[in-house]
Amino acid sequence: KMGRKFVVGGNWKMNGTKSQINEILSFLKTGPLNSNTEVIIGVPAVYLDYVQSNSPANVHVAAQNCYKAEKGAFTGETSPAMLKDIGVNWVILGHSERRQIFGESDELVADKVAFALSSGLKVIACIGETLDEREAGKTEAVVFRQTQAIANKIKDWSNVVIAYEPVWAIGTGKTATPAQAQEVHKSLRDWFAKNISKEVADSIRIQYGGSVTGANCQELGSQPDIDGFLVGGASLKPEFVNIVNARQ
Ligand code: G3P
Repeated sequence: KMGRKFVVGGNWKMNGTKSQINEILSFLKTGPLNSNTEVIIGVPAVYLDYVQSNSPANVHVAAQNCYKAEKGAFTGETSPAMLKDIGVNWVILGHSERRQIFGESDELVADKVAFALSSGLKVIACIGETLDEREAGKTEAVVFRQTQAIANKIKDWSNVVIAYEPVWAIGTGKTATPAQAQEVHKSLRDWFAKNISKEVADSIRIQYGGSVTGANCQELGSQPDIDGFLVGGASLKPEFVNIVNARQ
């Protein structure tokens, strides 16, 4: 797969207490986690400092959101500079829950991606179509539009991972079939080749997200254009270790 390092993210969303987090950190420490896989856990803001200080060295920590300014009058927000200050080097941006529940537009997501990158963070940028959009045959149009919005604002893709998460597959137990996911991942890679460069198309990692489990991860992970996963519910459970190790 063109030397792209497999990358598995766990998006905890708004879940976890200190004691649950200690359990998660404990199964991550026990692992074992395949060293050929990059592992990133997306932690609620309030626990970032704690997890950053207590997670094993082979696990990277990500925020689940951040704002597009260094500091200032933005009540309730977290800046990339604050994340860097506590040693957090990754952020998940544009998750469908941010887009749908909190009204984040393609434009805002793209601004956040650009600002986070310019602040030295690495970004997992999420895209994906809703069920209505898929049924209307608009899947490609939607994911291309979301990606183009980001492309309009950044030049260097080396610190970006794309997470393709069909919204209808998130938290529903309805996983995209390996063929459905591969089809979109391939289209996205072709889009990068055509609109950005062959080099970026070959090197950019595209994760699949949406009801990934220990049971379905191997078949999904064997698709040629699936370079990892962004895992929600199952990232809170010991089976996350199996998902990390999906590709041996
Ligand atoms: O960001 C990961 C996510 O949206 C998928 O959630 O619970 O379907 O794995 P889940």
